[in-house]
Amino acid sequence: MNIITSNKDKVLFTPGPLTTSCTVKQAMLTDLGSRDVAFIEIVRQIRQKLLEIGACSPNRYTAIPMQGSGTFGIEAVVSSTIPSDGKLLVIANGAYGERIAKIADVLNISCHVLRGPEDKTPDLDRVKKVLEANLGFTHVAVVHCETTTGIINPIQEIGEISNDFDCKFFVDAMSSFGAVTMNFHDCYIDYLVSSANKCIEGVPGFSFVVARTRYLRTNSRNMPEA
Ligand SMILES: Cc1ncc(COP(=O)(O)O)c(C=O)c1O
Repeated sequence: MNIITSNKDKVLFTPGPLTTSCTVKQAMLTDLGSRDVAFIEIVRQIRQKLLEIGACSPNRYTAIPMQGSGTFGIEAVVSSTIPSDGKLLVIANGAYGERIAKIADVLNISCHVLRGPEDKTPDLDRVKKVLEANLGFTHVAVVHCETTTGIINPIQEIGEISNDFDCKFFVDAMSSFGAVTMNFHDCYIDYLVSSANKCIEGVPGFSFVVARTRYLRTNSRNMPEA
């Protein structure tokens, strides 16, 4: 059976991985060496296009493909951007928010989880109160679209609050990036993680981080901020 030309694959209705188009399948028919000029050029184009999809300035942000699933990308951000004296506030209203907190916990990162009902967006007054009452938060993380329920969390408002409290803002946009418009600048997004096999309709196997370039140079778990 010629699955490339028939395109009669079962339609996947899962949140991801999902059905890929003929063109996506066809693009995978060529072998490329990781040092080939063509491969390096494709990676450059992918990184550029990711910034275009996010409508973010290449002067301020950079896109980093990660060689693992979405969870791998999240772990990469949590493990490498929060300094050892940092403190993370995770705003959770579903399983993927809880997963960010679990990753922080396993990594021994100081973390507080602000839990809310799964069928409601986070209470912004509670977010403000927690940040006011607990000095020392350096980072705030939230899931944009909690895939488990489909709820879309208000990342602009949460980003503004994070910025008011001088916290860096991390968004898990696994099932929204590429489908739900977001403005990195207005949302004060410092780090965003999404994956190849959700809204941008690629194949599973890698995720990517869109990060504020200047923080990549200075923020590291083991390196003091400049
Ligand atoms: C919001 C969200 N975060 C994280 C993940 C984990 O991604 P992965 O299954 O690629 O590790 C998913 C997967 O569906 C997700 O929807």
